[in-house]
Amino acid sequence: MKQYDIIGGEKLTGEVDISGTKNAAVAVIAAALLVDGVCYIDNIPEVGDVTTIMEILSDLGVVITRVAPNSYSFDCRAIKPDSVARAELYGKCRASYYVLGALLGRFGKVTVATPGGCDFGYGTSGRPIDQHIKGFEALGAEVEHSGGWIRATNNGSRLQGSRIYMDVVSVGATINTILAAVLSEGTTIIENAALEPHVVDLANFLNKMGAAVRGAGSSTIRVYGVDRLIGGDYSILPDQIEAGTYLCMAAATGGRITVRNVVPRHLYCITSKLSDMGVRIEENGDCVTSSLTRKRLKSTNVKTAPYPGFPTDMQPQITTLLCTAEGTSKVTEAVWDNRFQYLEQLQNMGAIVSQSGRDAVVEGSMNLTGAPIIATDLRAGAAMVIAGLAAEGVTRISDVWKIERGYEDLVEKLRRLGANITIHNDIEIVDMASDIIGADKRAESAA
Ligand code: EPU
Repeated sequence: MKQYDIIGGEKLTGEVDISGTKNAAVAVIAAALLVDGVCYIDNIPEVGDVTTIMEILSDLGVVITRVAPNSYSFDCRAIKPDSVARAELYGKCRASYYVLGALLGRFGKVTVATPGGCDFGYGTSGRPIDQHIKGFEALGAEVEHSGGWIRATNNGSRLQGSRIYMDVVSVGATINTILAAVLSEGTTIIENAALEPHVVDLANFLNKMGAAVRGAGSSTIRVYGVDRLIGGDYSILPDQIEAGTYLCMAAATGGRITVRNVVPRHLYCITSKLSDMGVRIEENGDCVTSSLTRKRLKSTNVKTAPYPGFPTDMQPQITTLLCTAEGTSKVTEAVWDNRFQYLEQLQNMGAIVSQSGRDAVVEGSMNLTGAPIIATDLRAGAAMVIAGLAAEGVTRISDVWKIERGYEDLVEKLRRLGANITIHNDIEIVDMASDIIGADKRAESAA
């Protein structure tokens, strides 16, 4: 199994190019299923979840070609209405549920397996999808979720535009309802929609392909049904969360870095918190530079919220950074039931942090110590990298495949910024060991 070894204490310096947003890419790639033509999509982050979505599309009959690094063409003309992808692929990531909305919208019926994704306290019942189902049913579909499969059908007919009020602000349900509504008859109005930049990115992609999605980025989205989407090209938005993660990494090491290819406006919800803690933030076009205004960061309180609030996907990273700050901080997770599974890992490194319900209380200290720890999920794994960079000594992080589901070239990017991070691969060691044994045996038989 792949692991990362980090020797902490190196200040990060230099510039890092931010990749396309994973959470936009997975939605846009699934949205290609609605296109009766070929689309070229650029700035696709080559990460685990994106690979999974592409494998699902391939199973469904989409012809995918890598035209250049991070750039792919998707020819969706040959998909059959009854295509079903391998069940295990759906279980590998959360965003596989976008195939549900897209194929239901295109063919009026679909069968997919239950989606996977990080577990944030919902156990075996999985994260809820009731709002997705509410959206599909409002458009006329019948939905059945049982035995690990989700079947939605309007008997192969076009869905009917409708008005839907989302009971909770949900990125996934907003995107899935848009996907289902794009080729429907009439107009769909989604109220209490999610405002995240990746919802806007998805709408922009669809509009470029010929859809009529209006109001994305506001809480009321109107989808005017069209007959057909044609092909075209599109470039995925830069990743707000990846950029925020690097800014936290730099701050944890007392370094100065510039994140390039970002939309600074999308980072305000993160950079304003970093400023409160004593990080100087400078914007220049599509670059943001961070450096420290003081020797030790200051404590602060953080509460996650849907965009434009502080993103839940930055919660583990900021909590970890707060472990290195002076004073006591409170972090409230208001989006997911339990996204604090990683606190135990930080405690193993000497952090003084405790959980009470949806709150974590961090007693700041500068004394993180390297230890063997686990990436409990994608963002928590990135947070463990922050801890390792700030800690004294060696930190070995296992289960890093979870980190690689969402961060492109993390190790290479960090090395270029001066981090002392290496990949440690148990399998290679086993292989090396069997090579040695093999060589010994060959030597013995030769003797
Ligand atoms: N919710 C419901 N019912 C639903 C859907 C959601 O009650 O039908 C609740 C959830 O339980 C949660 C809240 O609504 O409390 C928000 O969930 P949302 O649907 O917005 O989350 P998601 O679409 O499943 C996406 C990202 C997550 C990110 C959340 C919140 C993707 C693929 N995933 O998940 O990203 O945490 O939005 O911003 O876009 C990550 O990248 O590490 C990650 C987990």
